[in-house]
Amino acid sequence: MSINKAVIPVAGLGTRFLPTTLAVPKVMIPIYDRPSLHYCIEEAIDSGITKIILIISEIQEDIIKNYFSLNDSISDALKNKGHEKSLAEIEKILNRASVEFVIQKQPLGLGDAVLMAKKSIGETSFAVLLPDDLIIGNTPTLKHMLHIHSHTNDLVVAIKQVDSRDIPNLGIVSTANSQGEIHEIIGMVEKPSVEEAPSDLAIIGRYVLPIEIFDALERSHKGALGEIQLTDAIASLIPYRGCKGYLFQNAHFDVGTPLGLLQASLHQAVNRHGIDVDFGDWLNFSFPENHQRLPK
Ligand code: G1P
Repeated sequence: MSINKAVIPVAGLGTRFLPTTLAVPKVMIPIYDRPSLHYCIEEAIDSGITKIILIISEIQEDIIKNYFSLNDSISDALKNKGHEKSLAEIEKILNRASVEFVIQKQPLGLGDAVLMAKKSIGETSFAVLLPDDLIIGNTPTLKHMLHIHSHTNDLVVAIKQVDSRDIPNLGIVSTANSQGEIHEIIGMVEKPSVEEAPSDLAIIGRYVLPIEIFDALERSHKGALGEIQLTDAIASLIPYRGCKGYLFQNAHFDVGTPLGLLQASLHQAVNRHGIDVDFGDWLNFSFPENHQRLPK
């Protein structure tokens, strides 16, 4: 059965973007010209997802819901001012997928956030996308992963080789054999020390999961950071279900950090048609000798 539902957890506090996140949810901070959540939803839709379950917090509720409730007066005003193209960006989402909102009362971890979607998911496997991981390329990474799942019926997680200094912040997998970009996963551990890490292959926020994950999450105890970890629940299923790691080739940015967000914005500026030329001209600019730098 083909997968058409995706869970996108967005309820995190966004502490790395304080003070902005006192007023604006992290996923609504723009990467170049649109929120990180927008890119993530586009990836889901372009992979064939038609139902999106957003796990949000109570404080984010109004702002995030507003993004998906284009009213007639705004849409008429935009059309009258010739902004059809911008309007089409949000209409693409509204026309091609339904969005359901589920409130996570307390930030108890990624595993707990995914568990909130249990009722909405029902009886079929589903995708999870973490908007902190922006992945850009011609073919969406999730689409490749759904393809792998449809051929194997295994769980699928996106993986990437990372620098050792990033290992303690990520889920790390151990693999057996591999065929090209597809690796057989035999174990995984959340946020290990560099010494304990089984490899330098990290889980990046794209997953294809079976509904058994909900029972596994309900059985899970607090793990790394004292939170219910999705990685631990997946690891507990590995002895019973196959698990594949997809070593994706698309460009990836950790937009959960200010530097990653800046890099992603620059990547957009360099690669977006119509912006790239102006941006390139600007890059040739050399600072005058008396250039005043901002204090550190
Ligand atoms: C989560 C997952 C982790 C994964 C990471 C990718 O961690 O728990 O396994 O490697 O996303 O971004 P978090 O960023 O929520 O700490």
